[in-house]
Amino acid sequence: MFGRVKPLDAILATAEKKSLHRSLGPVQLTLLGIGAIIGTGIFVLTAAAAQKAGPGMMWSFVIAGTVCAVAALCYSELASMVPVSGSAYTYSYAVVGELLAWMVGWALILEYAVAASAVSVGWSGYFMGLVKSWTGFELPLMLQAGPTWTMAGPDFSTGWINVPAIFVALAVTWLLMIGTKESANVNAVLVAIKVAALTMFIALALPVMDRGHFEPFAPNGWFGPAGSSGMGIVGAAASIFFAYVGFDAVSTAAEETKNPQRNVPIGLIGSLAICTVFYLLVAAGAIGAIGAQPTALGVAAGSAEFKQQCAALLAQGNEPLVCSNEALAHVLRAINHTWAGDLVGLAANLALPSVILMMMFGQTRIFFVMARDGLLPEKLASVHPRWKTPHVVTLVTGVFVAFGAALLPVGQLADISNSGTLFAFLMVSVAVLILRVRDPNRVRPFRTPLVWIVAPLSIAGCVFLYFNLPVDAMLVLPVWGGIGLVFYFLYGFRKSHVGRGLVEVHEDDADAPPQPVPPLPGGIDID
Ligand code: ALA
Repeated sequence: MFGRVKPLDAILATAEKKSLHRSLGPVQLTLLGIGAIIGTGIFVLTAAAAQKAGPGMMWSFVIAGTVCAVAALCYSELASMVPVSGSAYTYSYAVVGELLAWMVGWALILEYAVAASAVSVGWSGYFMGLVKSWTGFELPLMLQAGPTWTMAGPDFSTGWINVPAIFVALAVTWLLMIGTKESANVNAVLVAIKVAALTMFIALALPVMDRGHFEPFAPNGWFGPAGSSGMGIVGAAASIFFAYVGFDAVSTAAEETKNPQRNVPIGLIGSLAICTVFYLLVAAGAIGAIGAQPTALGVAAGSAEFKQQCAALLAQGNEPLVCSNEALAHVLRAINHTWAGDLVGLAANLALPSVILMMMFGQTRIFFVMARDGLLPEKLASVHPRWKTPHVVTLVTGVFVAFGAALLPVGQLADISNSGTLFAFLMVSVAVLILRVRDPNRVRPFRTPLVWIVAPLSIAGCVFLYFNLPVDAMLVLPVWGGIGLVFYFLYGFRKSHVGRGLVEVHEDDADAPPQPVPPLPGGIDID
């Protein structure tokens, strides 16, 4: 299994034969990255980060951004060498063999599908907030949120099911099934809306900044109180890492990029850098304007106890930032800019579905590439005769996403998604180093600078953040991995095209089944 490596040359041959239209330039790529990055992380999870770290969450954003930056430098080298679809899964197949590639692909399900659930729940919070602000209508609380999960099981006292989140997840599934693709222009408009909303937030919040709100700066220290998990500045960094996820979408568009060797690294690192600057300013504005209000600090984020504390505070007419489901809109309303709060809410309502769409699309594409390699049933990838979309895999993904969104809180979903993403980032960083040793003479249009420092830093950063996730999210990865192994040995191990020696046939006939891969949002055809 470890020896089952899909040769890099075979992968590249496929890409060359397909000769996709290379239309994306550096600006479009950067916009694609920003479109996938800015979402629930900054709009919603800022509240959870404030709860875990207090004003020290500024450091959390820096730590998470730094880990992503070194990982992005590693992604850039591989994406420029292997500008084909499949991202971390494809690179792993070429470098560390089929078994680990399967594990990476399996972990990417956490990254993409669970992230789509998290963003759906984030959207739900903003949607309900906007409806309440405009009409006064409120859905019963039990229908606005799923239960809270502990090691002992679900606690339904805080919610039963998140109805708006199911709605948006299924609506996006429907759009994907009937063949909606987001054109580069639509993406650019939505990016403009998000950036305008964040800019307005910064412009209104920073001027009313009160230095006193930054004291005490780190009420929970770096690692949280003894016995807690996922708290403190580092715990918040592990969670807020979610806000940066998505930049790897740029690498998946490498096949459609003009001069990918130059433009993919620009898109990856450029989008990440721009978002980091915005995030730091937003975090400073949120804390500076109203403070983290540490009343609710100290209990586990998102726990039933925490929600009860928040409900009690709300009953007294006091909703601190850490309790809000729509953090940024809440801050603006709290500083008496209700209209601006509503505008930010509107921006989130308009723009978050496109993040869900990108994540779900990423998921279907990963499934496709895996099916193309024989590791998943080809039937999964069947294409609808009229819609010309992979309706089966899209529906399966959508139901899975809706299920997660219905029953789990946004913070837990984001943490679970992070565990899978950190594993994928780690494997990419390992792959860069292995390839440097194994294939030193291959052309590397982009070379990770100081690779023997940057890649180990990325590996260490991923491990560090992973071990600072809350225990339950940390445990999901090995359990999910175990399920993946069972699947692999029951199916993929026997059916693998590489394992059955079909790679040459497959590469010679690049348009042969399993199925063509559907278009990428951004108006790009990708396979
Ligand atoms: N980074 C994306 C978000 O925050 C996934 O929604």
